[in-house]
Amino acid sequence: MMSRVFEPTLLDGKAALITGGGTGICRGIALAFAAHGCDVAITSRKIEHLEPTRDELRARGVRAAAKAADVRDAAAVAGMIAEVAAELGRIDIVINGAAGNFICLAENLSPNGFGTVVDIDLKGTFNVSRAALPHLKAQGGTVVNISATLPYLGTIGQSHAAAAKAGVDSLTRTLAVEWGPHGIRVNGIAPGPIEGTEGVRRLTTEKSRASALTSCPLGRMGTTDDIANAALYLASDAASYVNGVTLVVDGGLWLRSARILGED
Ligand code: HXC
Repeated sequence: MMSRVFEPTLLDGKAALITGGGTGICRGIALAFAAHGCDVAITSRKIEHLEPTRDELRARGVRAAAKAADVRDAAAVAGMIAEVAAELGRIDIVINGAAGNFICLAENLSPNGFGTVVDIDLKGTFNVSRAALPHLKAQGGTVVNISATLPYLGTIGQSHAAAAKAGVDSLTRTLAVEWGPHGIRVNGIAPGPIEGTEGVRRLTTEKSRASALTSCPLGRMGTTDDIANAALYLASDAASYVNGVTLVVDGGLWLRSARILGED
């Protein structure tokens, strides 16, 4: 079954900042938000990963900005957010999608390898959310943290990413409670394997993908549109009473299997 992005304009007049927005899941979110009338700023470490998506966003008739920044670097994040706010005039929505991952058994993983993924996924989510807070407070807003189902079960080779994403889910709940009184909702999305993404390329084999298809109750991989539609819902007024949840968008896959990523 093909999925699609619903139209028309759920986010007219809003501005979103999307980390990791040049590629994969977050590129899909950026394009869907633009289709719904939202100005969009995308950021990642490398400007060349951003420019093609920025141009696609502009072609949809919204204002779009591309800014290179490493979410691990709090000072760089603060500078990037100041530039985005100056260029777009406001920030209503933050999507924390920047992430790093690879498969490595814990016994072979260096402390720096573990820390690098925690720094990108968890500290990066904190750094960006915290720096964006004054802009979100200005008119109320919403944060969506991209998480994963990895920590729900013991996923082999993912001690670093699973710990980081469990931390992200915890941060989602805490910030929902702390920032709700400012009119800011904080939620998350935990995607399953999404076809055509860097995550699936890096973390799965032909065999593990076939096994996921067999296990998934819906019998298919997710699409970037599936995640974009969930993000549209959580970021829009359609979810105005939804706060502090992480929405699993995986076709029911995690309920069926402890995945062994990269298994041959
Ligand atoms: C073991 C590894 C490793 C590997 C890196 N390291 N790759 N250890 N196996 N394959 C170790 C290094 O040896 C080093 O430790 C430490 O990690 C930092 O590595 P660097 O290369 O110096 O870090 P950096 O250049 O900052 O790159 C970060 C990265 C990289 C995460 C390691 O892979 C990256 O840039 N990724 C961004 C893109 C990405 O990963 N996208 C996929 C996200 S998928 P030492 O001790 O040697 O110094 C995703 C989905 C999850 O998040 C959900 C799936 C269902």
